[in-house]
Order: sequence, then C-alpha cells, then structure tokens
Amino acid sequence: MKVCIALTKGRLEKQFLEYLQSLSFDTTPLLNKGRKLSVDTENFRFIFAKGVDVATYVERGIADLGIVGEDILLEYSPDVYNLLPLPFGRCHFAIADRKGQRISNSKMIIATKYPNIATSFFREKGESVEIVKLEGSVELAPIIGLADAIVDIVETGTTLRENGLMIKEDMFTITARCIANRSSLKIKRNFLTPIIDVLSEKEKVI
Ligand code: PRP
Repeated sequence: MKVCIALTKGRLEKQFLEYLQSLSFDTTPLLNKGRKLSVDTENFRFIFAKGVDVATYVERGIADLGIVGEDILLEYSPDVYNLLPLPFGRCHFAIADRKGQRISNSKMIIATKYPNIATSFFREKGESVEIVKLEGSVELAPIIGLADAIVDIVETGTTLRENGLMIKEDMFTITARCIANRSSLKIKRNFLTPIIDVLSEKEKVI
C-alpha cells in the first residue's frame, strides 16, 4: 500500500526537501521531477499542488498526508487532522502600509489574500475595516491606491522593502504543518506512524 503525500509547491516544497535531506532521505526523484506534478517511488506517491489544494486533497482522502503552511489551515479551516508543526516555513503575519499613508477617509481598507484571518484579527481588536480580497501581489494595493494597508505573510521582508511598505503591526507567527486525512490515520496507521514519528522526532531535536 502506497502512502500519498501532498506537497505545497514553491518555497515550502524546497524547504521540505531540504528537511528530508537533513533526515538522510534520498530526495533525488523529487529533485529531478521537472514539471511533473506527481512522482511515484517504491513506497510513496508525492503530489505537488497549491497550498489550499493540498488541504483539499488531504481532506478528500486522495492524499494521506500533506505539508502545508499554517496560513492555509487558519484561512480555510479544512476538515483534516492538524498533526504537527514542522521546523521550517516559519514566517509571520503582519499589517503593512506606506508609513501610515491613508487613501480612504473613513474605514481603513485592507487588501489581503486572507480575508478570514484579517476579519477575525480586526474583529478581536474591535476595529471596523473594509477587507478587499486579492489573489496575489498584495503589496501592490497600497502603492496604486486600492488599499490603505495589507495583511500578508512576511518571510524575509524583501517584498515589503522592495515595494516601499513597512510593518505597522506584527500579528502572529506561523510554520509549516503536517496534516493528515482523518480516515487514513486509522486505516493506514501502520504505514503512517513511522513517517509521522520521523517528522516529529526531528521537530523535538530542533
Ligand atoms: C508571499 C507573501 C508575500 C511574500 C513574502 O507571496 O504573500 O508577498 O511571499 O515573502 P518575503 O517576505 O520573503 O518577501 P508569494 O511569494 O507566495 O506570491 P504571491 O504574491 O503571488 O502570493
């Protein structure tokens, strides 16, 4: 029985492969995959997708395990087992703007890829804001007059810096997470437990 693991393409994929290498796994088949979106090895099937789709594949049982950013879990609340934090993918959510410059006179307009996270954050602060959902390149919004500020993930800070934005408020830190399909955890327990043990053991060491 193969175990299917869904990986988030891009930065997290790269960091996960480095992590596997640090655990002495041979990642050659994954590194040489070219544009292929699935890779089969003797015991595993790896599939590569966008973060929110990784959660969907795991939720629907296509993938047994998934490697995904905590941002996806917080924003979309997929029905998956949120197994454990991983020692990579660390970044933080922040509110950023152009040094307090406002484009609106009344309610502050916030552009974000994460409307649910932003809405609950401002609700908890007791601030009434208008949320504008974007799919990406959120840093553009305050520059061209769509929003007063953004709520987004900051990793190195390069994107903010290169677009003339500054952090106004740090919100919270997130990491990559290992998630599991609820039924897989029961049905494929014998196959999944050793993998989960390896991943979590390293987490304790770091
Ligand atoms: C994320 C995030 C920021 C950027 C932060 O975007 O939304 O734009 O990374 O990283 P940094 O602090 O290291 O610059 P992503 O690269 O996923 O692209 P997107 O804007 O298309 O969503």
